[in-house]
Amino acid sequence: MKYVAGITGIGISLPERVLTNFELEKMVETSDEWITTRTGIKERRIASIDIAASDLSTQAAIEALSMAKIKPEEIDLIIVCTVTPDMMFPATAAIVQNNIGAVNAAGFDLSAGCSGFIYGVTVANQFIKTGLYKNILVIGCDILSRITNFNDRNTCVLFGDGAGAVVISRTEDEGIINQYIKVDGSGGAYLTLPAGGSRTPASFDTMEKGLNYTHMDGAEVFKFAVKAMPDAVNHILENTGLNILDINYLIPHQANIRIIESAVKRLHFPMDRVGISIDKYGNMSSASIPVALYEVYKDKKIKKNDKIVLVGFGAGLTYGALLIKWLI
Ligand code: ACO
Repeated sequence: MKYVAGITGIGISLPERVLTNFELEKMVETSDEWITTRTGIKERRIASIDIAASDLSTQAAIEALSMAKIKPEEIDLIIVCTVTPDMMFPATAAIVQNNIGAVNAAGFDLSAGCSGFIYGVTVANQFIKTGLYKNILVIGCDILSRITNFNDRNTCVLFGDGAGAVVISRTEDEGIINQYIKVDGSGGAYLTLPAGGSRTPASFDTMEKGLNYTHMDGAEVFKFAVKAMPDAVNHILENTGLNILDINYLIPHQANIRIIESAVKRLHFPMDRVGISIDKYGNMSSASIPVALYEVYKDKKIKKNDKIVLVGFGAGLTYGALLIKWLI
């Protein structure tokens, strides 16, 4: 028996608080002009201190379940893709499972940086294809403001908070057509949260040195990203025999508009068929791709049976792409 999977519901959750470039001008030595021209970001969302990853994940999951017309008890597995879990354990997926009453589900968190959502959907697809599960929630959620040093202008202008969730179900028509995921650990040092793990536990010393915040070599990550994203998309095209212009819409990870433009140019793909939400939300790590997908769907830029490529890169350094047929 051949089983196939597709996205049957999608939902998002974004904190209400908007942090503008003009506010950042008052916090670090930067300008709206610099941030806009160098990154494409105008504003981002910041979660209030009482909100954790499981809260945004739960809200996004409830919307996705409602669109898919799936009851929580029908969910077999919850995968929360995040680098900012509520805590190291229990997994944020376990907290979401309890919040939504998914009494029959398994659950785990998946750490693949900003490629988390691409990895999560890929994993979910395998569980459906084997016939083991019928309905899986994949959630991309990050509260990057909690690991961002708001005194460091190199990073604090880039990041924001949010969540996006999809229901992946066993479907008649194949919705998740192809995937390609990779990791290149040789570049791992370019994007790290140095302290708080077993190598360097959190201490007064790590706090003083700012090691509990994101550290990034922006130029190296930039160089990696502009090659990795086209590489991942080209693998998908090779795997499926499709031409880039057969793709109706491209949803890239939203880290920097210049990275997106450069990757899209290398792919010879038209910018007017690329999902962009970085101006409003900045880089929300694993939430960026599902939120951008949600918005192009709500704006009616994609329609049923469209072929869509999702592509991302992130800490690891990870990267990957997915080819989906839109079934909603
Ligand atoms: N405001 C003003 N000036 C700034 C700011 C700022 N916010 N940030 C850096 N600068 C300065 C730098 O200090 C540097 O000054 P110098 O020349 O005197 O040293 C100058 O601007 C130019 O710096 P560059 O690094 O050359 O700037 P660039 O145009 O490359 O942009 C950026 C920097 C935006 C960080 C870019 O490299 C980038 O987007 N890199 C990729 C980041 C990324 O994708 N991260 C992914 C995270 S994925 C995840 O898993 C979370």
